[in-house]
Amino acid sequence: MVSSSGRMPIERVGFVALIFAAVLYLGSGSGAGSSYASMRQLEDVQLSLAGANGAPFPGHILVTGGAGFIGSHATLRLLEDGYAVTIVDNYSRGNRGAIEALRKLAPKNKLRVVDGDLGVQRDLERAFGKHKVDAVIHFAAIAYVGESVAQPLAYYRNVTVNTIGLLEAMRRHDVRKLVYSSTCATYGNPDELPITEKTPTVPINPYGKSKLYAEDAIRDYAVANKDFDAAILRYFNVFGSDPRGRLGEFPRPELRAMGRISGACFDAALGNIPELVVMGTDFPTRDGTCIRDYVHVTDLVDAHLAVLGHVANPPVLYNVGTGEGVTVREFVDACKRVTGVDVTVREQRESRPGDYAEVYADVSKIREELGWEARYVDLEESLGHAWAWRSAHKAGY
Ligand SMILES: NC(=O)c1ccc[n+]([C@@H]2O[C@H](COP(=O)([O-])OP(=O)(O)OC[C@H]3O[C@@H](n4cnc5c(N)ncnc54)[C@H](O)[C@@H]3O)[C@@H](O)[C@H]2O)c1
Repeated sequence: MVSSSGRMPIERVGFVALIFAAVLYLGSGSGAGSSYASMRQLEDVQLSLAGANGAPFPGHILVTGGAGFIGSHATLRLLEDGYAVTIVDNYSRGNRGAIEALRKLAPKNKLRVVDGDLGVQRDLERAFGKHKVDAVIHFAAIAYVGESVAQPLAYYRNVTVNTIGLLEAMRRHDVRKLVYSSTCATYGNPDELPITEKTPTVPINPYGKSKLYAEDAIRDYAVANKDFDAAILRYFNVFGSDPRGRLGEFPRPELRAMGRISGACFDAALGNIPELVVMGTDFPTRDGTCIRDYVHVTDLVDAHLAVLGHVANPPVLYNVGTGEGVTVREFVDACKRVTGVDVTVREQRESRPGDYAEVYADVSKIREELGWEARYVDLEESLGHAWAWRSAHKAGY
């Protein structure tokens, strides 16, 4: 390889440079910013499992999916409340930039990040690591209704199978507390509204079914393991962002076509897409578009903090929403007012595959039992938080 002069022939230099560049590229992952080396450093952090300045230490939480929209907001709040956090994420969705933001905001030695896939046992072992985990909050999942109809097996593997793998890892590491991110999609198209926790679960798409099967696995595991406690939260539609503008929601551009309504509206307002397409105008609702219950991510995170102290066996179950239904047209109008941009809207009669007409939550159970209720119930104020971050980060994280 090396010539007798001790020099490498020029074509080999080029080849080695190419390999080196490729390794750097692969190591940098799909998100912006951090290199593989800095991710390794984040994984090697020695967590401090003690309270700061003599304050009691609330615990060490393993957050799956912490690079995602909800997981990153939850991590920030946990850190603010004195917890130590280990994040595990494979960046199949979510943003490395969210991790960079969290790293800058985290107190010293309180955040550890493992670049790993929940479907890989070795990665789970790294995630649980050598610092005793007190509880797991399991956010990681792929989570698009339409995609789940097109790729059902990916959903059963990512959502249901990975939850089982996580439970097995929790057993190996003697971790006995779990908070699980479930969804109103488990209810399907309900006969009666609002949706209570007793509303029958008849999911109509693989996303909702894969979440319900994961819930069942958790409940059955709890039957067989009386020292295991869990909480299952069925979120309605999550939106908004950190009111202080430190984190936001940035669906990756390649996922835009599957994305949620607020992201699409902002992309249209920013000129990233030529028009906003409203899918489904023939639903049996007040204006023909579907009705959803939009809960602010900060409120949702509050619900997690509240339920952490109330995990139980059998697992507790709560709806998390505002109790109010908003049509897509109403949502789009609010978006236009907040962004100040009269975005072009194209309405299409045909709905997205797997979409249901109307869902909103009865939230009396979580209010009565945990004292939680949504504080951000002004749609425009909440959209204003999301837009403030998004318009200040036009290229995302
Ligand atoms: N956003 C909503 O409106 C909503 C509503 C109901 C339920 N949920 C649930 O909340 C959770 C979080 O949703 P989100 O909106 O933050 O989604 P998100 O896509 O922003 O975040 C999910 C994160 O999980 C990670 N992930 C996915 N598969 C993984 C794997 N195999 N290993 C490791 N990491 C993996 C992704 O990379 C991403 O960072 C999901 O479980 C979702 O089903 C969300």
